[in-house]
Amino acid sequence: MCGIIGYIGDREANDILIAGLERLEYRGYDSAGVATIHNNSLCINKKEGRVQNLKELPKLSGNVGIAHTRWSTHGKPSDRNAHPFTDNTNSFTLVHNGIIENYLELKAGLQEAGVNFTSDTDSEVIVHLIAKAYIGNLKEAVLKVVNYLQGSFALCVINKDSDEIIGARNGSPLLVGLGDNENFLASDASAIIEHTKKVIYVNDFEVVGVKKDSVNIYDFNGNEKPKEIKTINWDLEQAQKSGYKHFMLKEIYEQPKVIEDSMQINFNEMLNTGANFNRIIIVACGTASYAGLVGKYVIEKVAKVPVINEIASEFRYKECLINENDLVIAISQSGETADTLAAIRLAKQKGAKTLGLINVVDSTIAREVDDVVYTRAGPEIGVASTKAFTSQLITLYKLAFHLIGEEFQFDVEKIKQALLLNESIRKLAKKYYQSTNFLYIGRNLSFPLALEGALKLKEISYIHAEAYPAGELKHGPIALVSEEMPTVAICPRDSVYEKTFSNIEEIKARSGKVITIATSGDEKIKKVSDDVIYIPEVQEILYPLIVAIPLQLFAYHVADLRDCDVDKPRNLAKSVTVE
Ligand code: G6P
Repeated sequence: MCGIIGYIGDREANDILIAGLERLEYRGYDSAGVATIHNNSLCINKKEGRVQNLKELPKLSGNVGIAHTRWSTHGKPSDRNAHPFTDNTNSFTLVHNGIIENYLELKAGLQEAGVNFTSDTDSEVIVHLIAKAYIGNLKEAVLKVVNYLQGSFALCVINKDSDEIIGARNGSPLLVGLGDNENFLASDASAIIEHTKKVIYVNDFEVVGVKKDSVNIYDFNGNEKPKEIKTINWDLEQAQKSGYKHFMLKEIYEQPKVIEDSMQINFNEMLNTGANFNRIIIVACGTASYAGLVGKYVIEKVAKVPVINEIASEFRYKECLINENDLVIAISQSGETADTLAAIRLAKQKGAKTLGLINVVDSTIAREVDDVVYTRAGPEIGVASTKAFTSQLITLYKLAFHLIGEEFQFDVEKIKQALLLNESIRKLAKKYYQSTNFLYIGRNLSFPLALEGALKLKEISYIHAEAYPAGELKHGPIALVSEEMPTVAICPRDSVYEKTFSNIEEIKARSGKVITIATSGDEKIKKVSDDVIYIPEVQEILYPLIVAIPLQLFAYHVADLRDCDVDKPRNLAKSVTVE
């Protein structure tokens, strides 16, 4: 994780870098720092905590600079561990996103050679190695050093005398933004979109030299490579809050539009009816993996193709029994999640066909899979995923029907009706927001939604929430049930309604409080529920799409009532580019 940005041009770098960092804060917010070159010396501001803190420090002068927002991996959040780092002569300064796995060996060697370290991070070794390797040409020094580094990195480095920023990438995202007599480097386009929409994606094993009027890309052997300029197809407005208190709430309300856009997705020949694969393996992390679990139920039910769901971080280290008869689908909002990317690489090695259901256009996974389908959620800024989740669901539903040569139908009005629940869910949240534990239950298609509902609640409100298949309650979790531990039961009128209903009764019999998500018109459910959230009636298979809305709203309002930082929950980051 971590976000990095660089600027070189005729304008003052400081404010451009800080504004860019604010847009990258979704990648981490443990500390922030900025460095510029002024009168041939390095100027640095860095501070533990949010990017906001940098604005309170005196502005740095200079037209060249780099900056960083941190998600801590090695060394706790502190001023001392904040990037940028400098070498012992204060000539070089560097920002890094990723993990240097062999940093301890490298550090020991550098310390033996008399280098003094000022932080506990893995990143700092890189700047000292570059200083040591430098003989008059920064690019050449970086080219030497990247070959010593094990692990993942996207980095930017400057030298106090240089008119160039050098970037390098292996495993963490990096792009160049092309301006008019000015250029940028950044972890993603949101950081620079107010200045330019023209970008070059830096690939793994590439070093880039960025001057104000030129960009050159090299492989790790120093051979120059051709540049492919792409145009970003979204704008700044989409990355702003537009009057909503939080990005998360804005993104929840964007779902009708996102669903309409996602309904336009087309699949290509690789996925045509009768396509040549025996089973599907879905790899993903977090919310995307819960979308994948809904996908399993739906694809198996509709297309009768066996689907295996794998958490990407587990899949990559298991005995890998996939082969060329399998289709491996990666689901990822960012398209950068390190574990999902590694899973796809493994699948390709094994000869499987790979498909990405990805939100961020031209992201790393999108570029590496055999075939990509973009999920059309638009930029998602809130760390807790909402509209990306529903767009992933729509894509999976469409895929299931596509596999049998049919068109998927869905009436987006039902989502609009579900959003009308906002006020009543706020009231409900006021009743429950002080609870410290929650249970979420659901059966069949509602089980992945229980997982997603519990995840939403815990990640943004810090309330402990556990999700179980409703039928598993009696095998353990029912022991937790008491008046103090409310249960959110997902019990729409579907083929397992009576079963879940009985499980709710079992909770009530043990004095548990139950909030039930039920189908509009279901009066009977009131008898076993303390509170009921009524959702519009839809065909059984479609309930996950509707149920997602009240679950998101409930988590949002509980977190807001608890004064939590909804868009930037503690310890989390939106794009997880480390293992
Ligand atoms: C992080 C985010 C989640 C997301 C997960 C997978 O944990 O906070 O919202 O679901 O990563 O990310 P991806 O970009 O691969 O969907």
